[in-house]
Amino acid sequence: PKIWKIALLPGDGVGPEVIAATKSVLQVIGDFYDHDFQFSEHLIGGAGIDAVENPLPQETIDACLASNGVLLGAVGGPKWDGQKLRPEQGLLGLRKAMGLYANLRPLQVSPVMAHRSPLKKEIVEGVDLIVFRELTGGVYFGDKGRNDDGSAYDVCSYSIEEIERVSRAAFKIAIQRRGKVTSVDKANVMETSRLWREVVTRIHAEEFPQVELKHALVDSMAMHLIQRPRDYDVILTENMFGDILSDEISVLGGSIGLLPSASLGSGGPGLFEPIHGSAPDIAGQDLANPVGTILSAAMLLRHGLGLEDEAASIEAAVAAVLAAGATTADLGGELGTRAAGEAIIDAIRAIHWAAAHRVQ
Ligand code: NAD
Ligand code: IPM
Ligand code: MN
Repeated sequence: PKIWKIALLPGDGVGPEVIAATKSVLQVIGDFYDHDFQFSEHLIGGAGIDAVENPLPQETIDACLASNGVLLGAVGGPKWDGQKLRPEQGLLGLRKAMGLYANLRPLQVSPVMAHRSPLKKEIVEGVDLIVFRELTGGVYFGDKGRNDDGSAYDVCSYSIEEIERVSRAAFKIAIQRRGKVTSVDKANVMETSRLWREVVTRIHAEEFPQVELKHALVDSMAMHLIQRPRDYDVILTENMFGDILSDEISVLGGSIGLLPSASLGSGGPGLFEPIHGSAPDIAGQDLANPVGTILSAAMLLRHGLGLEDEAASIEAAVAAVLAAGATTADLGGELGTRAAGEAIIDAIRAIHWAAAHRVQ
C-alpha cells in the first residue's frame, strides 16, 4: 500500500470530536482502497496554550510541512478570551507558515437539504457556488496595536502579487466550473479594494478572457447571496469579506456544520478544515455535526493526495446519509457526532458492496 502522512490538529471545543469521527472515516477509506494513512496528532490553539504555552508550537509547523495533508478541527473558546496568547494566532500563523493563500469554501444545496434551510426551498435548491477567499493578507495580517492615547488600529494592505496569485487560482477553478467569477470588494470606500478591482480586471483580460467576470460591492453582495444565490459560481474576495460571506452562505444549506474548506498554496501540503469554529455552546456533548470535517477530509484526498475516487466515495456516502435524514441536531436529527460518523462509514461500506456486486 501507498503511505500517506496525514497531520491531525484537533484543537479546541468540538474540534477533537469532529476529528475523531473523521479519522474513523479515513481509516475505512484506507482499508477499502489499500492506502496506508499514517496519522499523527499535534497541538494547536488553546490546546497548545494549555500544554506548552504556545498556540503554534514549532513541532506542529514542522510536522504539517512534512505531511501530505493537514486536517484541522477548530481553535478558540471563551476560556482563552482576554488572555495575551490567543488560540486564533495559532491558526493564522499556520496558514502563513504554510503559505496557504487560497481558501476554497464550496457549497452545494441538494433538494433534500433545501427544506432544512430557513430560506425558501425554491431560492436555495440547486445552489452550487464556491467562496474563494484570500487567506494570508489583508487586515488579518496588517500591523495592529494600541496607541498611547488609548486608540487602536488594524492596517489593511494588499500587494499586487497577493491579488494576482489568488485571482489566477480563482479563474482556473472557474474554468472547471460554470465559468463565472464575481469579485467582491468595497471599492467605493477602500483603497485596497480599488487595487483589488484593478488587478482582478487586468488578470482577467490578460489571462482568462473566456471567464465571465463581474464585480460586486460586499454590502449588496451580502443581500444578493440571500435573494438569488443560484446566480453565483465562484465568489472571489479578500480575507475578511470571505470569512463573513462564507458563514452567511452556510445558512443556505441548513447548517454551518456541513461546510468544508481547503486552504492551498503553491505546491506544499494543504490544510483542510470545516468553516465552523469550536462551537463552545455544544462542545464536549457529542452534538457537533462532523460532516463539514468529513467533507474537508474528502477535499484533502482530492486536492492534497490526488485521490479522486476515494474523495467521491466519501461525498456519495455523505449525500446518501443526509438524504436518508440521518443527521445531527443542527439539522433536526437525533444522531450524536460519533453516530453520524458511523452512519457515513456504513454508507461507504454499502456503496462499495453495491459496486462490487454491481447492484444499483
Ligand atoms: P462557531 O462556528 O464556533 O459557532 C457558531 C454557531 O454554530 C454555534 O451556535 C455553534 O454551536 C454552531 N456550530 C458550529 N459548528 C457546528 C457543528 N459542527 N455542528 C453543529 N453546530 C455547529 O462560531 P463562534 O461561536 O462565533 O466562535 C467560537 C470560537 O471558535 C471562537 O473562539 C472563534 O474564534 C473560533 N473559531 C474558530 C474557527 C476555526 O478554527 N477555523 C472558525 C470560526 C471560529
Ligand atoms: C475561519 C475562522 C478564522 C478566520 C479565525 C478563527 C481566525 O473564523 O476559519 O473562518 O477568521 O479566518
Ligand atoms: Mn470564520
